[in-house]
Amino acid sequence: MGSPEVHLYPMTLADLDGVLVVERLSFLTPWSRDAFAEELLQTFTVYVVARAGQHVVGYGGMHVVFDEAHVTNVAVHPDWRGQGLGERIMRRLIHLAAARGAHRMTLEVRASNEPAKRLYAKLGFVTGPGAVRRGYYTDTGEDAIVMWKEPLVEQQATGGPA
Ligand SMILES: CC(C)(COP(=O)(O)OP(=O)(O)OC[C@H]1O[C@@H](n2cnc3c(N)ncnc32)[C@H](O)[C@@H]1OP(=O)(O)O)[C@@H](O)C(=O)NCCC(=O)NCCS
Repeated sequence: MGSPEVHLYPMTLADLDGVLVVERLSFLTPWSRDAFAEELLQTFTVYVVARAGQHVVGYGGMHVVFDEAHVTNVAVHPDWRGQGLGERIMRRLIHLAAARGAHRMTLEVRASNEPAKRLYAKLGFVTGPGAVRRGYYTDTGEDAIVMWKEPLVEQQATGGPA
């Protein structure tokens, strides 16, 4: 039996059972259902979910305020990792942030989280001066690395004479 195709959709309350399964498999200190539900009520938030058939296999979300997008979470079910899905979710968030008028995107990542750091670097996120928040994660006391991407959309060459 082949795997069903994965499609991305705007996240709704109906997705939260599946989202919480992936959340609990992915994070040491998972968000609660209420935390996600509260996010979905806000107009400045954007959450996408990846579904294979009826199953939630990943998701990601962000806040977009003025010209800045702040990624709040991205996760892929462990059985579905390493197949390009995290990258697809992040590319969708970047596209949606730009469509809302954002010019830059930022996020925090655990210093030890190599897969995530590599994913973000692949998409053009960089760290700058002051990019470490010491002891940011209260569960382990681990540092956060702050990463930025700017501009969100590569400039097109105009091709004409100056
Ligand atoms: C981080 C995460 C979302 C990546 O999702 P994924 O679907 O496995 O990633 P992809 O298959 O799309 O990989 C895209 C890129 O990420 C990087 N990457 C992904 N997994 C990696 C791994 N195990 N080791 C090193 N780099 C990795 C690579 O650069 C990869 O590109 P490449 O295949 O061309 O080398 C996933 O590992 C996850 O859910 N982790 C737990 C939750 C988490 O840490 N979220 C991020 C919080 S900041």
